[in-house]
Amino acid sequence: MSENYGHGDLSWFKHDRFGMFIHYGLYSMPARHEWIRSIEQYKDEDYHVFFKYFNPDLFEPQVWAKAAREAGMKYVVFTTKHHEGFCMWDTKYTDFKITNTPFGRDMLREVVDAFRAEGIRIGFYYSLIDWNHPDFTVDCFHPRKCEPKEVVDKLNEGRDMKRYQDYMINQITELLTNYGKIDVMWFDFSYPENKFPDGREGGGKGHKDWDSERIIKTVRSLQPHIIVDNRLDLPGSGDILTPEQYTPTGNVLEDNRGDNTIGAWEGCQTFSGSWGYHRDEMTWKSDEQCIKMLIDHVSRDGNLLMNVGPTSRGYLDYRAMDRLSAYANWMRYNSRSIYGCGQAPAEFQEGEGYRLTYNKETNRLYIHIYSWPYRMLHVKSLKDKVAFMQLLHDGSELAYSSSEVPVCGGKITHKDDSISIYLPVNKPENMIVPVIEVMLK
Ligand code: GLC
Repeated sequence: MSENYGHGDLSWFKHDRFGMFIHYGLYSMPARHEWIRSIEQYKDEDYHVFFKYFNPDLFEPQVWAKAAREAGMKYVVFTTKHHEGFCMWDTKYTDFKITNTPFGRDMLREVVDAFRAEGIRIGFYYSLIDWNHPDFTVDCFHPRKCEPKEVVDKLNEGRDMKRYQDYMINQITELLTNYGKIDVMWFDFSYPENKFPDGREGGGKGHKDWDSERIIKTVRSLQPHIIVDNRLDLPGSGDILTPEQYTPTGNVLEDNRGDNTIGAWEGCQTFSGSWGYHRDEMTWKSDEQCIKMLIDHVSRDGNLLMNVGPTSRGYLDYRAMDRLSAYANWMRYNSRSIYGCGQAPAEFQEGEGYRLTYNKETNRLYIHIYSWPYRMLHVKSLKDKVAFMQLLHDGSELAYSSSEVPVCGGKITHKDDSISIYLPVNKPENMIVPVIEVMLK
């Protein structure tokens, strides 16, 4: 049984379905992955070169916010502090913060204002891991993780996780007090079982190290409606499950890893293989993959939090902007199959080449055509259920046959409850995934 720490308001979240993740920090300067401080085992003084020169002179959060709104994204989750420990706001509790770089301003404030001005809800990502804080003990991910045991023990002697816990509480309190209403709090992450790279036990951290109980109580008392992710390693503390970097094959909530208090799930995904700006990473997903990821998530009752990693000069590079505009072009015509929609009821089965979503308020079913067929799409379980159907992007009526498919020289009767929908021979131009909207009886 999990403790009851209260729960946030998931109603808007399950309706809006689509958000923007932003990973921004000093790691945008090395531009080789947001974990670079750990991966390359940076010495503090070497990493602080980035701190000394960070100055995003082309930072215009209004541009990010407009691109997000046009893409159909309804909420944003911004990295206030990532594992590197650098703080993107004017915190009172460390000098390792953005106001002490040449940039000199509270970026978080500007991001919050710009996104709010576009009507987008605000979420904060906050890393539990901190490779800069002097009290954060060396563990399996820390930049000094590969040192021999004696060195690690020595390094950890003066470090006090209790003081680090206080630091987190102070910062979380700042974040949830000074920036108005915050809708999502995204903690990252716990790894209680982990070993050091050489196999030694004790390399992990979990709820005891963070004092997750105190964290969740603080968060819930400051902003009771807030949605919290599930990475505090504390059953009962989370509102959402957060699979990352893969598309689940089914509704993740139906396999909720033992915490029955969680009410929704959100996949977090990247356009390319890294969260922070990575100049040379080349596995950028195609427009089609990006759009299908959104549909796939919603069709399994999930949300999609799609990430961008701004360059160190402050803008989103053309590859990210291209994909955001692909979303914009698709969502402009098809967002009705996303907002307010989720997994179709069990009576509607998916079949070859298409994915379903369903809106229970309007009782409409959406058929997303992944593989454009030749003239007819055969869809299961719709016999006698259709009042009207149309292509969603242009509202043009589609004819269908509820029981039989006419062919030259005879008729072939569906043996099951399928119907056949008559489609134009050519897939509509400029519509990566065409959608059929079905008004059900
Ligand atoms: C991982 C990584 C991290 C990223 C996060 C987003 O846990 O540590 O770099 O911020 O996933 O989900």
